[in-house]
Amino acid sequence: MTLVITSACIDVKDGICTTSCPVDCIYEGERMYYIHPTECIECAMCESICPVDAIRYADEVEADELPFVALNDAAFRNPEGALVEPGGWRKGMAPVSDPPELAALAADRKRASKEDAA
Ligand code: F3S
Repeated sequence: MTLVITSACIDVKDGICTTSCPVDCIYEGERMYYIHPTECIECAMCESICPVDAIRYADEVEADELPFVALNDAAFRNPEGALVEPGGWRKGMAPVSDPPELAALAADRKRASKEDAA
């Protein structure tokens, strides 16, 4: 089961996870990073290194974070829906476009954290 990046990465983008990945399958997006679903070799080297605990095995994602499993996949789909395999992330590469669903998910998370703080 591949690993995925969840909402804690949004607008944080620490990036240290990319240094732990032996196959460079973690790609920078515009507002967060994404793990490529087929390039990931499931070693989990990235999981414990993230300072905001954003990385999980896809089958261990909490219920309210489940949309991020699909989001990590969607980040690598072309307009025809085919999975694109860039072959490894390198520093300086143009960011992967955030899937359009991210904006609504990010707004939901912001609302929820404001409610938790109130
Ligand atoms: Fe994001 Fe954590 Fe990596 S904040 S960029 S998943 S180290």
